[in-house]
Amino acid sequence: MNTVQVHDKVFKPFISREQIQERVKELGAQIDKDYAGLNPIFISILNGSFIFAADLFRCITVDAEISFIKLASYKGTTSTGNVVTAIGMEERLEGRHVVILEDIVDTGKTLSAFIPEIMQRHPASLKIAAFLTKPEALQHDVYTDYVGFEIPNNFVVGYGLDYDGLGRNLPELYTLAD
Ligand code: IMP
Repeated sequence: MNTVQVHDKVFKPFISREQIQERVKELGAQIDKDYAGLNPIFISILNGSFIFAADLFRCITVDAEISFIKLASYKGTTSTGNVVTAIGMEERLEGRHVVILEDIVDTGKTLSAFIPEIMQRHPASLKIAAFLTKPEALQHDVYTDYVGFEIPNNFVVGYGLDYDGLGRNLPELYTLAD
């Protein structure tokens, strides 16, 4: 088996490049169909989703825009604790059909904090497309409309996802070897 070492951990192949390409094409085709005539705006959350976003966006044939943002989280003074702000979100979203692109919805914490920020800008609609979801890890009320793969609650790297900064460039998905 072609294992890879990232920092101190060994990872084994999990989802192949071919499987990923095929699934992303299917997702892209579905989104393309659903958003015909709606001029959607995709918001890709950096860093993790840049590869998924690049592949998915090239499957879109209808008029569509894409923007890239970074989320910075800090302890807010509200009772809910963490507040998330988006760096780089200059586009007007009012009346727009927004699709958030994420690498993985794990606990759902990031998106549950970020979605209200988008909603404040009064989009016409908001959906989420994630390359991966870990249903067993979900702790927040986040619904992922378009899911590439549902995976077990194990740590993965590759296809944009990192382990402490490394592994994003692996073209397939790897999971921790036992
Ligand atoms: P959440 O807020 O718990 O849903 O986590 C979302 C973020 O955690 C993702 O955008 C990833 O950056 C990171 N993450 C969660 N699980 C993994 C994993 O298995 N590998 C790499 N990054 C992960």
